[in-house]
Amino acid sequence: MQRYAVIGYPISHSLSPVLHNWAFTYLGYLNKTYEALAIKKEELASFMQSNSNFFLGFSVTIPLKEEILKFAQKKSSVVQEIKAANTLVKTSKGWFAENTDVYGFLTPLKNLGLKFNSALILGAGGASRAVIYSLKLLKIKEIYITNRTYDKAKKLAQEFHLIPIVWEDRNKVKPELLINTTPLGMKGKLLKETPWPYSFQSIKVAYDLIYTPFWTKFLLAAKKEQALALSGLNMFLYQGLKQFKLFTGQEFPLAKGLLVVKKALGHINL
Ligand code: ATR
Repeated sequence: MQRYAVIGYPISHSLSPVLHNWAFTYLGYLNKTYEALAIKKEELASFMQSNSNFFLGFSVTIPLKEEILKFAQKKSSVVQEIKAANTLVKTSKGWFAENTDVYGFLTPLKNLGLKFNSALILGAGGASRAVIYSLKLLKIKEIYITNRTYDKAKKLAQEFHLIPIVWEDRNKVKPELLINTTPLGMKGKLLKETPWPYSFQSIKVAYDLIYTPFWTKFLLAAKKEQALALSGLNMFLYQGLKQFKLFTGQEFPLAKGLLVVKKALGHINL
């Protein structure tokens, strides 16, 4: 058997095993299998030293996306710039690290065919680095970042030449593109929360990185005010597509993949 896995913690809710195992079967890779492994930051080094040999590739998720770079012999240019990877592929020269989150984030946005003059990123955690890099690629002129802990927003703003905003002042920004990278609105304790309890008047597109639930409170409010709403499931699907290509050299059919993950989320009837 050729083994692949998603590594991170917590991992039980990851949709990656559903997507990759379905795609392996669908495309006839009957000797490939994909599993979820709960690995904490402090366990990563011993796992990579003793067990990684049994695997041909990894999806890497929270909280390991930065830590994993220590174990990569080669890094893509995107990974070198962002300093975070979500994919590790075995090569004859060791582990190659790639970041398919950028492609995952950008593709659904590009598919809308719109131009943006300004964007506001809500949150300054690990996920926001791929978002910042993506917005830079789109050459958006004004990029704002706001975070509950202002210092983190300020640091990222300095590193990437963005405009930092105090969390409590975020509604003073009138962006055309608004992106949520915080867990506010995620299934569980934060389901009823929203990172944007304000008007969506100036906003053309609201993009949530959350995909459980498919429609968050944030996105439902955006739709009500006629903004376009993008669920994080789009990003999940495209990052998975690119990752699968790195694992196999092939792509799975996108529309079928979307149905598979929606069904897994219980949203088949949307
Ligand atoms: P990730 O690494 O995936 O980005 P994270 O670090 O747990 O995930 O959190 C992402 C962002 O959500 C962080 O910027 C965090 O703000 P802090 O830097 O102040 O911790 C933000 N966040 C988490 N919970 C929040 C909450 N209840 N209200 C506002 N922001 C929150």
